[in-house]
Amino acid sequence: MKLLALETSCDETAFAILEDGEKVLANLVASQEELHRRYGGIVPELASRRHLELILPLAFEALERARISLEEIEAVAVTNGPGLIGSLLIGVSFAKALAFGRGLPLLAVDHINAHFLAAFLEEKKPSFPFIALVVSGGHTALFYVRDYLEFYLLGQTRDDAAGEAFDKVAKLLGLGYPGGRIISRLAEKGDPQSIPLPRPLLDQEGFDFSFSGLKTAVAHFVKDLQKKGLPVPIHDLCASFEAAVVEVLVKKTLRALNATGVKNLVVAGGVASNKSLREEFQKLAREDGFFLFLPRPEFCTDNAAMVGVAGYQRWLRKEFASLDLDVYARSQFPRYQF
Ligand code: KG4
Ligand code: ZN
Repeated sequence: MKLLALETSCDETAFAILEDGEKVLANLVASQEELHRRYGGIVPELASRRHLELILPLAFEALERARISLEEIEAVAVTNGPGLIGSLLIGVSFAKALAFGRGLPLLAVDHINAHFLAAFLEEKKPSFPFIALVVSGGHTALFYVRDYLEFYLLGQTRDDAAGEAFDKVAKLLGLGYPGGRIISRLAEKGDPQSIPLPRPLLDQEGFDFSFSGLKTAVAHFVKDLQKKGLPVPIHDLCASFEAAVVEVLVKKTLRALNATGVKNLVVAGGVASNKSLREEFQKLAREDGFFLFLPRPEFCTDNAAMVGVAGYQRWLRKEFASLDLDVYARSQFPRYQF
């Protein structure tokens, strides 16, 4: 069964073609980084216009890469939320047109659901139930995942997402956009213990996160140095900031594993491509004896292959979307009940 999947929830226009829900025949991501860099963040209106320009040529390129014709596609999967409304509408309208024009089933996919299902694109697949930590530019959340499309929220960020914190700190340090990769590269040459920064909500019960205070702590630290006319130790600051984010993410996730008694863990989303976060989880999996599933970095950041995995599960269940499918900016997930 060959499925075309697309993803336009944020600033990546992405297409994938999957066979039987897990074999990736093509996976294309056109990033808009260049376009938004000069504004230090995503400009939603520019993002949707760029999606519109890219979507058709990219669809044809995906078919070419997969060496198949449009006639062989049996279903269309698309992200319809959460994300930027204008950007989502481009992808969803395209998917509807294709589904209608060719009489194909339309499969609606939640972007966060897709992020953790990226783990099924790897050879070693998780078994259910598992805990999923989704850490991206828009989301930081822990889920108890009972099945592909059935999952419950344990906790999430009360303010900034982890990736957003990376991006904002990079911006205030004048390092550019997107910040995650830049900070983690600079952090490699710094001492993670050199600058004391807060570990927000770590001493509180529960699974919620908060990252805006950490960003403010970095801003105060920089302001103090500037007032004194001292240089900012950029490598040490990046390393200390990254260490604070990693520690909070890791400890809260371990808490979720312990509280639920679940032995499988999936870590996904753009920030899951962070080297030090990956290494920390790998070390703990060995020490604590849980099973860790980390999609490769290109499946952590936004892509359409993960949308294909989720779409295929909808297809198996015959959960087809109608042509009046709408988009949404935010997800509402049911809570996990202890
Ligand atoms: O999942 P994603 O591609 O898009 C969203 O759904 O938000 O995640 C993008 C986020 C950005 O905030 C980016 O700064 C962050 O992931 N990111 C990283 C790294 N690579 C990307 N954060 C930390 N370390 C990285 N290596
Ligand atoms: Zn994402």
